[in-house]
Amino acid sequence: MRLADCHNTEDFRKLAQKRLPSPIFHYIDGGADDEVTLRRNAAAFDECDLVPDVLAGVESVDLSTTVMGKRIAMPLMLSPTALQRLFHWQGERAVARAAEKFGTWMGVSTIGTASIEEIGALIASPKMFQLYIHRDQGLNRGLVERCKAAGFDALALTVDTIVGGNRERDLRTGFKTPPRLTPSMILKFAARPGWTGHYLFREKFELANIRGTAGEDPNFALSVAEYINTQLDPNMDWKTAERLRADWGGEFCLKGVMSVGDARRAVDIGATAIMVSNHGGRQLDGGRAPFDQLAEIVDAVGDRIDVICDGGVRRGSHVLKALSVGAKACSGGRMYLYALAAGGQEGVERALGKLRGEIERGMQLMGKRSAAELGRGNLRWR
Ligand code: FNR
Ligand code: LAC
Repeated sequence: MRLADCHNTEDFRKLAQKRLPSPIFHYIDGGADDEVTLRRNAAAFDECDLVPDVLAGVESVDLSTTVMGKRIAMPLMLSPTALQRLFHWQGERAVARAAEKFGTWMGVSTIGTASIEEIGALIASPKMFQLYIHRDQGLNRGLVERCKAAGFDALALTVDTIVGGNRERDLRTGFKTPPRLTPSMILKFAARPGWTGHYLFREKFELANIRGTAGEDPNFALSVAEYINTQLDPNMDWKTAERLRADWGGEFCLKGVMSVGDARRAVDIGATAIMVSNHGGRQLDGGRAPFDQLAEIVDAVGDRIDVICDGGVRRGSHVLKALSVGAKACSGGRMYLYALAAGGQEGVERALGKLRGEIERGMQLMGKRSAAELGRGNLRWR
Protein backbone atom coordinates (compact mmCIF):
# COMPACT_ATOMS: atom_id res chain seq x y z
CA MET A 1 0.00 0.00 0.00
CA ARG A 2 1.29 3.45 -0.95
CA LEU A 3 0.14 7.03 -0.57
CA ALA A 4 -1.34 6.92 -4.07
CA ASP A 5 -3.64 4.11 -2.88
CA CYS A 6 -5.08 6.26 -0.09
CA HIS A 7 -8.46 7.69 -1.04
CA ASN A 8 -10.09 8.22 2.34
CA THR A 9 -9.32 8.56 6.05
CA GLU A 10 -9.49 4.82 6.63
CA ASP A 11 -6.91 4.21 3.87
CA PHE A 12 -4.50 6.71 5.49
CA ARG A 13 -5.14 5.00 8.82
CA LYS A 14 -4.15 1.61 7.40
CA LEU A 15 -0.99 3.02 5.85
CA ALA A 16 -0.12 4.81 9.12
CA GLN A 17 -0.39 1.47 10.90
CA LYS A 18 2.09 -0.03 8.45
CA ARG A 19 4.57 2.82 8.88
CA LEU A 20 4.50 3.41 12.66
CA PRO A 21 5.84 1.36 15.57
CA SER A 22 2.72 -0.05 17.21
CA PRO A 23 2.88 2.05 20.45
CA ILE A 24 2.83 5.23 18.39
CA PHE A 25 0.03 4.12 16.09
CA HIS A 26 -2.13 3.15 19.05
CA TYR A 27 -1.42 6.44 20.81
CA ILE A 28 -2.97 8.26 17.83
CA ASP A 29 -5.72 5.77 17.12
CA GLY A 30 -6.89 4.99 20.65
CA GLY A 31 -9.31 6.52 23.11
CA ALA A 32 -10.26 6.22 26.77
CA ASP A 33 -11.69 3.15 28.56
CA ASP A 34 -13.93 1.14 26.21
CA GLU A 35 -13.60 3.72 23.40
CA VAL A 36 -17.38 4.07 23.24
CA THR A 37 -17.12 7.83 22.81
CA LEU A 38 -14.31 7.51 20.27
CA ARG A 39 -16.53 5.34 18.09
CA ARG A 40 -19.64 7.41 18.77
CA ASN A 41 -17.96 10.63 17.61
CA ALA A 42 -17.86 9.35 14.03
CA ALA A 43 -21.00 7.16 14.20
CA ALA A 44 -23.14 10.13 15.31
CA PHE A 45 -22.90 11.58 11.81
CA ASP A 46 -24.58 8.45 10.39
CA GLU A 47 -27.73 9.00 12.39
CA CYS A 48 -28.96 11.74 10.20
CA ASP A 49 -29.21 11.94 6.45
CA LEU A 50 -28.71 14.72 3.97
CA VAL A 51 -31.68 15.63 1.78
CA PRO A 52 -30.44 17.22 -1.46
CA ASP A 53 -32.13 19.79 -3.67
CA VAL A 54 -31.61 19.21 -7.39
CA LEU A 55 -31.57 21.28 -10.58
CA ALA A 56 -29.82 24.07 -8.71
CA GLY A 57 -27.26 24.86 -11.40
CA VAL A 58 -24.20 24.51 -9.20
CA GLU A 59 -21.07 24.70 -11.30
CA SER A 60 -18.92 26.11 -8.55
CA VAL A 61 -19.25 26.37 -4.80
CA ASP A 62 -17.77 28.73 -2.25
CA LEU A 63 -16.28 26.69 0.60
CA SER A 64 -14.98 29.67 2.54
CA THR A 65 -16.13 30.58 6.03
CA THR A 66 -15.06 33.01 8.74
CA VAL A 67 -13.83 31.67 12.07
CA MET A 68 -12.45 33.92 14.80
CA GLY A 69 -12.30 36.82 12.40
CA LYS A 70 -10.28 35.01 9.75
CA ARG A 71 -11.65 34.04 6.37
CA ILE A 72 -10.59 30.44 5.69
CA ALA A 73 -10.82 28.69 2.35
CA MET A 74 -12.54 25.56 3.61
CA PRO A 75 -14.73 24.76 6.62
CA LEU A 76 -12.39 22.17 8.12
CA MET A 77 -9.62 23.12 10.56
CA LEU A 78 -6.62 21.22 11.86
CA SER A 79 -6.97 20.69 15.61
CA PRO A 80 -3.89 21.01 17.81
CA THR A 81 -2.23 17.67 18.50
CA ALA A 82 0.81 16.72 20.55
CA LEU A 83 4.10 15.08 19.56
CA GLN A 84 3.81 15.34 15.78
CA ARG A 85 7.49 14.63 15.08
CA LEU A 86 6.89 11.16 16.50
CA PHE A 87 4.36 10.50 13.76
CA HIS A 88 6.63 11.67 10.93
CA TRP A 89 10.01 13.35 11.09
CA GLN A 90 8.58 16.46 9.37
CA GLY A 91 6.04 16.87 12.21
CA GLU A 92 4.36 20.23 12.71
CA ARG A 93 6.27 21.78 9.83
CA ALA A 94 4.51 19.49 7.38
CA VAL A 95 1.13 20.11 8.97
CA ALA A 96 1.63 23.88 9.04
CA ARG A 97 2.67 24.07 5.39
CA ALA A 98 -0.25 21.90 4.33
CA ALA A 99 -2.68 24.05 6.35
CA GLU A 100 -1.30 27.16 4.69
CA LYS A 101 -1.69 25.63 1.24
CA PHE A 102 -5.33 24.80 1.96
CA GLY A 103 -5.94 28.16 3.61
CA THR A 104 -7.23 26.90 6.94
CA TRP A 105 -6.54 27.20 10.67
CA MET A 106 -3.81 25.08 12.20
CA GLY A 107 -3.44 24.43 15.92
CA VAL A 108 -0.09 24.06 17.67
CA SER A 109 -0.13 22.05 20.90
CA THR A 110 1.60 23.06 24.12
CA ILE A 111 3.25 19.66 23.89
CA GLY A 112 4.13 20.06 20.25
CA THR A 113 7.52 19.27 18.79
CA ALA A 114 8.09 22.50 16.85
CA SER A 115 8.36 25.82 18.61
CA ILE A 116 5.84 28.64 18.68
CA GLU A 117 8.51 30.86 17.12
CA GLU A 118 9.28 28.46 14.30
CA ILE A 119 5.66 27.95 13.28
CA GLY A 120 4.97 31.66 13.70
CA ALA A 121 7.69 32.45 11.18
CA LEU A 122 6.90 29.55 8.86
CA ILE A 123 3.34 30.28 7.78
CA ALA A 124 1.21 33.35 7.17
CA SER A 125 -2.13 31.51 7.41
CA PRO A 126 -4.23 31.53 10.62
CA LYS A 127 -2.67 29.71 13.55
CA MET A 128 -3.90 29.07 17.05
CA PHE A 129 -1.89 28.00 20.02
CA GLN A 130 -3.45 25.38 22.28
CA LEU A 131 -2.63 26.09 25.89
CA TYR A 132 -2.53 23.60 28.71
CA ILE A 133 -2.57 25.36 32.06
CA HIS A 134 0.42 24.07 34.00
CA ARG A 135 0.97 24.13 37.74
CA ASP A 136 4.00 26.27 36.86
CA GLN A 137 2.39 29.71 36.43
CA GLY A 138 5.56 31.22 35.00
CA LEU A 139 5.43 28.68 32.18
CA ASN A 140 1.81 29.64 31.38
CA ARG A 141 2.63 33.35 31.28
CA GLY A 142 5.71 32.74 29.18
CA LEU A 143 3.76 30.72 26.60
CA VAL A 144 1.16 33.48 26.21
CA GLU A 145 3.87 36.11 25.74
CA ARG A 146 5.66 33.96 23.18
CA CYS A 147 2.43 33.50 21.21
CA LYS A 148 1.89 37.25 21.13
CA ALA A 149 5.45 37.88 19.96
CA ALA A 150 5.20 35.17 17.28
CA GLY A 151 1.99 36.61 15.86
CA PHE A 152 -0.40 33.78 16.69
CA ASP A 153 -3.97 34.64 15.69
CA ALA A 154 -5.83 32.86 18.49
CA LEU A 155 -5.35 31.11 21.79
CA ALA A 156 -7.32 27.94 22.55
CA LEU A 157 -7.59 26.82 26.16
CA THR A 158 -8.19 23.08 26.46
CA VAL A 159 -10.70 22.53 29.25
CA ASP A 160 -11.37 18.79 29.09
CA THR A 161 -7.99 17.52 30.25
CA ILE A 162 -7.45 18.38 33.91
CA VAL A 163 -6.55 14.73 34.48
CA GLY A 164 -5.29 12.22 31.94
CA GLY A 165 -7.86 9.94 30.30
CA ASN A 166 -7.56 6.20 30.88
CA ARG A 167 -6.01 5.12 27.61
CA GLU A 168 -5.63 1.42 28.02
CA ARG A 169 -3.91 0.91 24.67
CA ASP A 170 -1.07 3.12 25.94
CA LEU A 171 -0.90 1.08 29.15
CA ARG A 172 -0.64 -2.12 27.14
CA THR A 173 1.94 -0.88 24.63
CA GLY A 174 3.97 1.03 27.25
CA PHE A 175 3.89 4.20 25.11
CA LYS A 176 6.06 6.91 26.65
CA THR A 177 7.69 10.06 25.44
CA PRO A 178 10.47 10.43 24.53
CA PRO A 179 10.32 6.83 23.26
CA ARG A 180 13.08 4.64 24.63
CA LEU A 181 14.52 1.70 22.78
CA THR A 182 14.37 -0.40 25.93
CA PRO A 183 14.55 -4.22 25.72
CA SER A 184 10.75 -4.52 25.87
CA MET A 185 10.33 -1.92 23.11
CA ILE A 186 13.13 -2.90 20.80
CA LEU A 187 11.16 -5.47 18.80
CA LYS A 188 8.31 -3.05 18.22
CA PHE A 189 10.68 -0.44 16.85
CA ALA A 190 12.81 -2.93 14.92
CA ALA A 191 9.63 -3.94 13.07
CA ARG A 192 9.52 -0.41 11.60
CA PRO A 193 13.11 0.28 10.51
CA GLY A 194 12.11 3.23 8.29
CA TRP A 195 10.54 5.11 11.18
CA THR A 196 13.29 4.10 13.61
CA GLY A 197 16.05 5.33 11.26
CA HIS A 198 14.48 8.77 11.08
CA TYR A 199 13.92 8.84 14.82
CA LEU A 200 17.53 7.96 15.59
CA PHE A 201 19.33 10.00 12.95
CA ARG A 202 17.24 13.10 12.26
CA GLU A 203 17.08 16.15 14.49
CA LYS A 204 16.71 15.23 18.15
CA PHE A 205 13.17 14.83 19.40
CA GLU A 206 12.07 17.47 21.91
CA LEU A 207 9.01 19.19 23.31
CA ALA A 208 9.99 22.52 21.83
CA ASN A 209 7.54 24.74 23.72
CA ILE A 210 8.20 23.48 27.23
CA ARG A 211 11.92 22.90 26.83
CA GLY A 212 13.78 22.95 30.12
CA THR A 213 10.67 22.71 32.32
CA ALA A 214 9.80 20.01 34.85
CA GLY A 215 7.84 18.00 32.29
CA GLU A 216 10.57 18.00 29.65
CA ASP A 217 13.43 15.92 30.82
CA PRO A 218 15.00 14.24 27.78
CA ASN A 219 16.40 11.58 30.05
CA PHE A 220 13.13 10.72 31.70
CA ALA A 221 10.30 9.19 29.69
CA LEU A 222 6.74 9.89 30.81
CA SER A 223 3.43 8.49 29.64
CA VAL A 224 1.01 11.15 28.42
CA ALA A 225 -1.24 10.47 31.43
CA GLU A 226 1.73 10.91 33.80
CA TYR A 227 2.58 14.19 32.11
CA ILE A 228 -0.96 15.51 32.44
CA ASN A 229 -1.34 14.32 36.03
CA THR A 230 1.94 15.74 37.28
CA GLN A 231 2.32 18.94 35.22
CA LEU A 232 -1.16 20.33 34.54
CA ASP A 233 -3.24 22.28 37.05
CA PRO A 234 -6.42 20.41 38.03
CA ASN A 235 -7.72 23.50 39.84
CA MET A 236 -8.19 25.43 36.63
CA ASP A 237 -11.62 27.10 36.71
CA TRP A 238 -13.71 29.85 35.08
CA LYS A 239 -11.66 32.55 36.80
CA THR A 240 -8.52 31.06 35.27
CA ALA A 241 -10.13 31.14 31.83
CA GLU A 242 -11.36 34.70 32.24
CA ARG A 243 -7.97 35.92 33.42
CA LEU A 244 -6.25 34.19 30.54
CA ARG A 245 -8.62 35.76 28.02
CA ALA A 246 -7.85 39.19 29.46
CA ASP A 247 -4.06 38.60 29.46
CA TRP A 248 -4.18 37.36 25.89
CA GLY A 249 -6.51 40.08 24.63
CA GLY A 250 -7.15 38.49 21.23
CA GLU A 251 -9.32 35.79 19.68
CA PHE A 252 -9.94 33.24 22.42
CA CYS A 253 -11.38 29.74 22.12
CA LEU A 254 -12.43 27.22 24.75
CA LYS A 255 -11.65 23.75 23.47
CA GLY A 256 -13.70 20.97 24.99
CA VAL A 257 -17.03 22.60 25.85
CA MET A 258 -19.91 20.09 25.75
CA SER A 259 -22.80 21.55 27.78
CA VAL A 260 -25.12 24.42 26.95
CA GLY A 261 -24.43 25.98 30.36
CA ASP A 262 -20.69 26.03 29.72
CA ALA A 263 -21.23 27.41 26.20
CA ARG A 264 -23.19 30.31 27.73
CA ARG A 265 -20.43 30.92 30.26
CA ALA A 266 -17.88 30.95 27.45
CA VAL A 267 -19.84 33.81 25.90
CA ASP A 268 -20.03 35.56 29.29
CA ILE A 269 -16.25 35.54 29.76
CA GLY A 270 -15.73 36.96 26.28
CA ALA A 271 -14.54 33.88 24.40
CA THR A 272 -14.88 34.31 20.65
CA ALA A 273 -15.17 30.60 19.80
CA ILE A 274 -15.83 27.22 21.34
CA MET A 275 -14.75 23.86 20.08
CA VAL A 276 -17.53 21.44 20.94
CA SER A 277 -15.28 18.53 21.67
CA ASN A 278 -14.54 15.56 23.88
CA HIS A 279 -10.86 15.46 22.88
CA GLY A 280 -11.50 12.82 20.24
CA GLY A 281 -12.82 10.35 22.83
CA ARG A 282 -9.48 10.33 24.63
CA GLN A 283 -10.64 11.73 27.95
CA LEU A 284 -14.15 11.03 29.34
CA ASP A 285 -15.47 7.80 27.90
CA GLY A 286 -19.26 7.56 27.85
CA GLY A 287 -19.46 11.25 27.00
CA ARG A 288 -21.74 12.47 24.24
CA ALA A 289 -20.48 13.06 20.72
CA PRO A 290 -19.84 16.66 19.61
CA PHE A 291 -22.21 16.27 16.65
CA ASP A 292 -25.00 15.00 18.92
CA GLN A 293 -24.54 18.02 21.17
CA LEU A 294 -24.18 20.57 18.40
CA ALA A 295 -27.80 21.64 17.79
CA GLU A 296 -28.56 22.63 21.38
CA ILE A 297 -25.32 24.57 21.67
CA VAL A 298 -25.84 26.37 18.34
CA ASP A 299 -29.40 27.25 19.40
CA ALA A 300 -28.17 28.70 22.69
CA VAL A 301 -25.09 30.67 21.59
CA GLY A 302 -24.58 30.29 17.84
CA ASP A 303 -25.40 33.94 17.17
CA ARG A 304 -22.83 35.20 19.72
CA ILE A 305 -19.83 32.94 19.35
CA ASP A 306 -18.23 30.80 16.64
CA VAL A 307 -19.20 27.18 17.23
CA ILE A 308 -16.71 24.62 15.89
CA CYS A 309 -17.62 20.92 15.81
CA ASP A 310 -14.43 19.04 16.75
CA GLY A 311 -13.90 15.32 16.39
CA GLY A 312 -15.16 12.30 14.51
CA VAL A 313 -14.80 13.89 11.06
CA ARG A 314 -13.74 11.20 8.60
CA ARG A 315 -15.65 12.31 5.48
CA GLY A 316 -16.68 15.53 3.77
CA SER A 317 -20.33 14.59 4.32
CA HIS A 318 -19.70 14.82 8.08
CA VAL A 319 -18.68 18.44 7.60
CA LEU A 320 -21.80 19.14 5.52
CA LYS A 321 -23.98 17.75 8.31
CA ALA A 322 -22.31 19.86 11.01
CA LEU A 323 -22.60 23.00 8.85
CA SER A 324 -26.27 22.20 8.26
CA VAL A 325 -26.85 22.10 12.02
CA GLY A 326 -25.16 25.51 12.31
CA ALA A 327 -21.45 25.00 13.06
CA LYS A 328 -19.14 27.63 11.53
CA ALA A 329 -16.62 24.88 10.75
CA CYS A 330 -15.44 21.44 11.80
CA SER A 331 -12.03 20.50 13.11
CA GLY A 332 -10.22 17.25 13.56
CA GLY A 333 -7.02 15.52 14.56
CA ARG A 334 -6.82 11.97 13.31
CA MET A 335 -8.06 12.87 9.81
CA TYR A 336 -4.69 14.58 9.18
CA LEU A 337 -2.49 12.68 11.67
CA TYR A 338 -2.93 9.32 9.94
CA ALA A 339 -1.95 11.06 6.70
CA LEU A 340 1.06 12.71 8.35
CA ALA A 341 2.25 9.29 9.51
CA ALA A 342 1.51 7.80 6.09
CA GLY A 343 3.42 10.38 4.07
CA GLY A 344 4.56 13.57 5.78
CA GLN A 345 3.55 16.86 4.16
CA GLU A 346 2.58 15.10 0.93
CA GLY A 347 0.30 12.83 2.95
CA VAL A 348 -1.40 15.68 4.81
CA GLU A 349 -1.92 17.55 1.55
CA ARG A 350 -3.39 14.48 -0.05
CA ALA A 351 -5.77 13.94 2.87
CA LEU A 352 -6.88 17.57 2.92
CA GLY A 353 -7.30 17.50 -0.86
CA LYS A 354 -9.50 14.42 -0.63
CA LEU A 355 -11.61 15.91 2.17
CA ARG A 356 -11.94 19.25 0.41
CA GLY A 357 -12.99 17.39 -2.74
CA GLU A 358 -15.61 15.49 -0.77
CA ILE A 359 -16.98 18.70 0.76
CA GLU A 360 -17.07 20.47 -2.61
CA ARG A 361 -18.66 17.57 -4.47
CA GLY A 362 -21.12 17.08 -1.62
CA MET A 363 -22.18 20.73 -1.78
CA GLN A 364 -22.77 20.42 -5.52
CA LEU A 365 -24.77 17.23 -5.08
CA MET A 366 -26.75 18.95 -2.33
CA GLY A 367 -27.53 21.81 -4.72
CA LYS A 368 -25.86 24.41 -2.48
CA ARG A 369 -23.46 27.16 -3.49
CA SER A 370 -22.17 28.03 -0.03
CA ALA A 371 -22.39 27.02 3.61
CA ALA A 372 -24.94 29.80 4.14
CA GLU A 373 -27.38 27.83 1.97
CA LEU A 374 -27.11 24.73 4.18
CA GLY A 375 -29.58 24.49 7.04
CA ARG A 376 -31.47 22.05 9.20
CA GLY A 377 -34.11 21.86 6.47
CA ASN A 378 -31.76 19.67 4.47
CA LEU A 379 -31.25 17.13 7.27
CA ARG A 380 -33.52 14.37 8.57
CA TRP A 381 -32.85 12.33 11.69
CA ARG A 382 -33.72 8.62 11.48
C1 FNR B 1 -5.04 15.13 20.37
N1 FNR B 1 -5.80 16.18 20.86
C2 FNR B 1 -5.18 17.19 21.57
N2 FNR B 1 -5.91 18.24 22.02
C3 FNR B 1 -5.31 19.25 22.71
O1 FNR B 1 -5.99 20.18 23.10
N3 FNR B 1 -3.96 19.22 22.93
C4 FNR B 1 -3.17 18.21 22.51
O2 FNR B 1 -1.97 18.21 22.72
C5 FNR B 1 -3.79 17.13 21.81
N4 FNR B 1 -3.06 16.06 21.40
C6 FNR B 1 -3.65 15.07 20.65
C7 FNR B 1 -2.88 14.04 20.15
C8 FNR B 1 -3.46 13.05 19.36
C9 FNR B 1 -2.62 11.95 18.82
C10 FNR B 1 -4.84 13.12 19.05
C11 FNR B 1 -5.50 12.08 18.17
C12 FNR B 1 -5.61 14.14 19.57
C13 FNR B 1 -7.24 16.27 20.55
C14 FNR B 1 -7.47 16.98 19.22
O3 FNR B 1 -7.16 18.35 19.31
C15 FNR B 1 -8.93 16.86 18.77
O4 FNR B 1 -9.78 17.35 19.76
C16 FNR B 1 -9.32 15.43 18.43
O5 FNR B 1 -8.31 14.82 17.68
C17 FNR B 1 -10.63 15.40 17.67
O6 FNR B 1 -10.99 14.11 17.36
P1 FNR B 1 -10.64 13.40 15.95
O7 FNR B 1 -10.77 14.44 14.88
O8 FNR B 1 -9.26 12.88 16.08
O9 FNR B 1 -11.68 12.34 15.85
C1 LAC C 1 -3.60 13.69 24.02
C2 LAC C 1 -3.13 14.85 24.84
C3 LAC C 1 -1.73 15.11 24.77
O1 LAC C 1 -4.77 13.68 23.66
O2 LAC C 1 -3.89 15.98 24.60
O3 LAC C 1 -2.83 12.74 23.83
